[in-house]
Amino acid sequence: MTSLQTSRPHFHFTPPQHWINDPNGLVYFDGEWHLFYQHNPFGSEWGHMSWGHAVSRDLAHWEHLPLALPEQADYMIFSGSAAVDWHNSGGFGDGIHPPLIAAYTAHSPREQTQHLAFSRDRGRTWTPYSGNPVVAIGSREFRDPKLFWHAPSGRWVMACALADRQQVRLYGSSNLREWRHLSDFGPAGAATGAWECPDLFPLSVEDDPAQQRWVLKVDDQRFGAQYFIGDFDGERFTCDDPPDVARRVDFGRDFYAAQSWNDAPEGRRVWLAWMSHWDYAAQTPTAPWRGMMSAPRELTLRADGGRLCLAQQPARELRSLRRAHWHIAQVSCDEANDRLRTLSVRGTALEIAATFVGTTGDAFGLKVRTGTAEETIIGYSAAEGLLVVDRSRSGDVSFSPRFDARHAAPCPLRDGALTIHVLVDAHSVEVFADGGRLVISDLIFPQPESDGIAIFGAAGARVQSLDVWELA
Ligand code: FRU
Repeated sequence: MTSLQTSRPHFHFTPPQHWINDPNGLVYFDGEWHLFYQHNPFGSEWGHMSWGHAVSRDLAHWEHLPLALPEQADYMIFSGSAAVDWHNSGGFGDGIHPPLIAAYTAHSPREQTQHLAFSRDRGRTWTPYSGNPVVAIGSREFRDPKLFWHAPSGRWVMACALADRQQVRLYGSSNLREWRHLSDFGPAGAATGAWECPDLFPLSVEDDPAQQRWVLKVDDQRFGAQYFIGDFDGERFTCDDPPDVARRVDFGRDFYAAQSWNDAPEGRRVWLAWMSHWDYAAQTPTAPWRGMMSAPRELTLRADGGRLCLAQQPARELRSLRRAHWHIAQVSCDEANDRLRTLSVRGTALEIAATFVGTTGDAFGLKVRTGTAEETIIGYSAAEGLLVVDRSRSGDVSFSPRFDARHAAPCPLRDGALTIHVLVDAHSVEVFADGGRLVISDLIFPQPESDGIAIFGAAGARVQSLDVWELA
C-alpha cells in the first residue's frame, strides 16, 4: 500500500513544495553556496521546468529563495550551471561587482539551445542575455551546459551533452557571447542510454596534491552516473582508460545529474546530485514535495594499486550537525543487537562509522531504520565480496515495480576489515565504503517510527568499533 509520507529529510535538501530534479547553477560566491534546481513550480510531477533557488552558508542549512528562472512562453528552462565572471569578460557586470552568469538549455519541442542569463545582485534576480541563444545547432538532444573558467588557456569552456549521440561537446569562448566548437568526447564507457549533465573539472591526487588530473562525469540514462579520468588541454579531453571501460560514480540507484560547485573555496571540489531515478521519480510517495538532493560530497582522486579512482566523502560541514554520540568497541556481531539496545541508539537522522573484522563466513553488517516490519540492510557478503544495500523491506516499496531492491558493489576487505561510513535520513541511506571509493546511495520510505539500528552477522564477525551520531 502506498501512503504519502510527510516527514521531511532532516539534513537533505528538499524544496518547499512540488517537483524537483537535477541540481543546477552550483556556484560559490560571497560566502554563499548557491543551489538552483530543476523545478516545477505548479505541481508534483515533471513539467513547467524552471530554476528554483536556495543558498547555504555551511552546506548543512539551506535558505529558500524565490524562483530564479521561470519557464518562458515558448521554452522551458532545462539544466545548466553558473559561474562568477571575475573579470567581467562578458561585459554583463556593473563595473564594480563581478556578475554571476547562468548557462542553461532552452527546451522547446523544436530544438534545445544554450542560453545565458546574468545577475548583478548575488543571484537574487536574473536577466536573460538579449543575444540568446549563444549556441544552437538545430538539435533536439543538445543540453545541460556546464560552464567554467579554464585559467591555463584564459578562456571559458562549456561542456554540453549531445544526448542521443552519447557525446560530450566542448565549446570555448573569451567573452561568453561567441562560442567556438573545440572537440567532442564519446561514445565511451557506458553508452546505452541518453547522455546528460556533463561536468568537467581538475582534481588533485590524495597525498600528492601536485599531481592533478581531469575528471569528466556524464550520466547515462540507463547506466547512471559514470566518470572518466584523463587530461584536458583546453581543447580536448583525453581519457586514460580504453574507450570501453565504464566506471560507476555510485552503485545505488539514486544519484543522478551530479554537478560540482564552481569557485568553491580552498580549491575544494564538492558536488551533490538529484537523489532519485527517472524510472520511478514521478511515483515516490512524499508530499507536499517530490524529489530531494543527496548530501554534498567532497571529491578527491585516490591511487589504488597504481590506478587512479574517484573517492567521495560527506562534506566536512555535515559534522556540524552531530549531536549525541554513541561508541562501542570489540563486540561480537551475534551479541551486538542487545548491546546496541542497551546504548539505546535510535534515530531517523544518523551518521554511522563502523569497522567490522574477522569475517570469512556469512554476511554481516548493519540494519538501519528498523521497526516492527521494516529494515534497510547494509550488509557485506564475504562469499561474494560484495557490499550490499537491500531495501526490499525498507518501507513503502509498492509505489513502483521499478523501485528495485538490492544494489551491490564489489568491495575488498582491507587487512580483513571493512569500514563503512553511513548517512541515514528520513528517506535515504548513503553508504561510503573503502574510504569513499565505493558509494551506494538509495532512497527508502520507512515509517517515521522505524528508527532502530542493529548489527547482524555470524559468530565469527566482530564489530571492531562503531560510532553513531544523532544528526540535528
Ligand atoms: C536530467 C535531465 C536533463 C534535462 C533535465 C530536464 O535528469 O533529463 O538532461 O536538462 O533533466 O528537467
